[in-house]
Amino acid sequence: MQDVSSSQRAIHWHQQSVDGEARARLKQQRPVCLWLTGLSGSGKSTLANLLEASLYDKGVHTYLLDGDNLRHGLCSDLGFSDSDRTENIRRAAEVAKLMVDAGLVVIVSFISPFRADRAFARSLFEPGSFFEVFVDAPLQACMQRDPKGLYAKAQRGELKNFTGLDSPYEPPESPEVHLRTASDSPQECVEMVLRRILATPLA
Ligand code: ADX
Repeated sequence: MQDVSSSQRAIHWHQQSVDGEARARLKQQRPVCLWLTGLSGSGKSTLANLLEASLYDKGVHTYLLDGDNLRHGLCSDLGFSDSDRTENIRRAAEVAKLMVDAGLVVIVSFISPFRADRAFARSLFEPGSFFEVFVDAPLQACMQRDPKGLYAKAQRGELKNFTGLDSPYEPPESPEVHLRTASDSPQECVEMVLRRILATPLA
């Protein structure tokens, strides 16, 4: 994708009188982005769902951006080449940024296999409002779970560029939260995330 600077395109940023801070104040919460990264089958979607339900019960205004779901709409033109994944993460990150600016606690659940792409996502947010959550499970465990039968398909040669097999996954080096879904229960994992982010109350 061609990167054209806004000055070349004569596009200007409009200052809005209702800003992110005002929207957050109205919602009486601290908007943040919770970025879940991990292999397919590591448990991201399960945890993202539980996490959102738990925040909702606490009266927090949330939104969940899920990789599989965004690929049905906003990202339906993208595949799984390295450059398509980079573009996929760029779009997800920009949408998450808008939603945080709208005052929401946004949960993003994407494999997001490349460190550079996750670093880009982090760079869009104020310090302290982006939490990288590593949903860690050994590849063997993910292959055994294989909830969508995709590892089996990839092993039969019917899916190319499958993360963990013939496409790399670069684990986070210093995530805010490191979950181990092969040893800890989903409920325990959700509690760990909540403890970390609620160190400063959200609502
Ligand atoms: S990402 O790498 O660009 O972040 P994303 O999270 O949007 O991936 O989508 C991953 C989902 O797409 C997986 O959960 C799986 O269901 C499906 N999928 C289809 N093909 C692949 C592939 N080659 N590699 C990984 N996931 C795939």
